Amino acid sequence: MTSLLIDNIGSLVTNAPELGAGPLGLLNDAALIAEDGVVVWVGPRSAASSADARVDAAGRAVIPGFVDSHAHLVFAGDRTAEFTARMSGQPYAAGGIRGTVTATRAASADQLRTTVAGLVREALRSGTTTMECKSGYGLTVESELRSLKVAAEVTDEVTFLGGHVVPPEYADRPDDYVHLVCTEMLDACGPAAKWVDVFCERGAFDADQTRAILTAGIDRGLQPRVHANQLGPGPGVQIAVEYGAASADHATHLDDADVAALAGSQTVATLLPGAEFSTRATYPNARRLLDAGVTVALSPDCNPGSSFTTSMPFCIAVAVRDMYMTPDEAVWAATAGGARALRRDDIGHLAVGASADLALLDASSHTHLAYRPGVPLVAAVVRRGELAWRMSEDLR
Ligand code: NIG
Ligand code: FE
Repeated sequence: MTSLLIDNIGSLVTNAPELGAGPLGLLNDAALIAEDGVVVWVGPRSAASSADARVDAAGRAVIPGFVDSHAHLVFAGDRTAEFTARMSGQPYAAGGIRGTVTATRAASADQLRTTVAGLVREALRSGTTTMECKSGYGLTVESELRSLKVAAEVTDEVTFLGGHVVPPEYADRPDDYVHLVCTEMLDACGPAAKWVDVFCERGAFDADQTRAILTAGIDRGLQPRVHANQLGPGPGVQIAVEYGAASADHATHLDDADVAALAGSQTVATLLPGAEFSTRATYPNARRLLDAGVTVALSPDCNPGSSFTTSMPFCIAVAVRDMYMTPDEAVWAATAGGARALRRDDIGHLAVGASADLALLDASSHTHLAYRPGVPLVAAVVRRGELAWRMSEDLR
C-alpha cells in the first residue's frame, strides 16, 4: 500500500456537499490522503495523519480532476485552412469531417497513437484526469475498429462514432452506409467500445438513421450518447432522452420541449463552448438549462475541425463569461457534471472512496479558473493517487 498526503490546501473543492460549504463542498485549510489511488481521508489539515509521501499544496486551491466526457482524439491531418476561412466568414458545416477521414484512413496506427497520447498529455497539463474518446474519422469497418483500439490504449471510456457522417464512397446511398454501420461495423466494433454515439444533424444523420444506429449499438451492449442540436434545431435531444442516453452533447439549438425533456430525464446536457468559439456561433443557453433543473456538463470537444482545444479551463472561462454560468456551476459541470455524463460515481468528486484525481491551482480559489482566463493555473495533477504532472520541480 502506498499513501499520499496532499497537505496545506488553501481551499478544496470536494463536490461532496456533506464535507463542506455549498454544492461544491468547499473546505478551507484542508488536507487529503490517498491510498492505492483512492481517497481515504479528507478533513481539516490540523487533523491529518502522515503518509508515505507528502505534497505541500502551499495554500493553493485544489479541485477534482476535470472529467472530459466528449473528445475526438483519433485523427490525422490538419484543418488550419478551414479555420482560417471560417474566421473570414465561411460557415462551418458537417462536411469538413470528410477531409479528416481521408487523412485518418491513410495514417498508420502509430501516427494515430502519437497524436492521441500527445493530446491526452496536453489535457492532463490543464487538469483533465479522465477523457472519453470517440472513433468517427475512419468510417470503414477496419478503420473504425483500429480507432477504437487506439482509444482504448488511453481510456476505458471508448465511444463508437461510426455514425459521424456518411463517407464519400456512400454519398449517393446513405442508407446503405447506415445498414453497414448497423450490421458488419457494429458486429466488429461493438466489443471494442463502451458507448455508441451518433451525429444527429442536417448533413449527418436524420432521426430514423440515428434511431437505427443507436438501437443496433444497444443491441450489442453499448450505452447511448448523442451529438444533438449543434448546428440547428432538430430531433437529437428528444431522441437522446427517448433512448435514456447518458448525455445529449452540444444542445445548442433547443426549444422549450427539448429543455423540458432534458429536465425530466437522466440525460445530461453536455455543453461544448469550444465548438461555438471556433465556429463563431452562438453559445448554448446554459442559464436556461440550469434554471430548468437540467444537469449540465462542460467539455472542450477536442477535434481537428470545430474545436481544436483540450483546455477545460478555457471552457470554464467562456461558460462563465458568455453562457452565464456562475464560476461554481462551471467548475461543477467540468468535474462532477462530466462524471454524470459518463455515468461514473468514482470520479468528479473527492469524497472518501473516490479515485484520487485532482489538480492543484496556482490560485487561492477555483473561481480564478474563470477570473484569470488564458493563464496556465494548473500547477500539478494527481491521477489515481500519483503525481502525474507538475509545472515545476519546486512543488514537492
Ligand atoms: O463535436 N459535431 C460533430 N463532430 C465534431 C466535429 C467534427 C469535425 O468537424 O471534425 C463536433 O463538433
Ligand atoms: Fe463532438
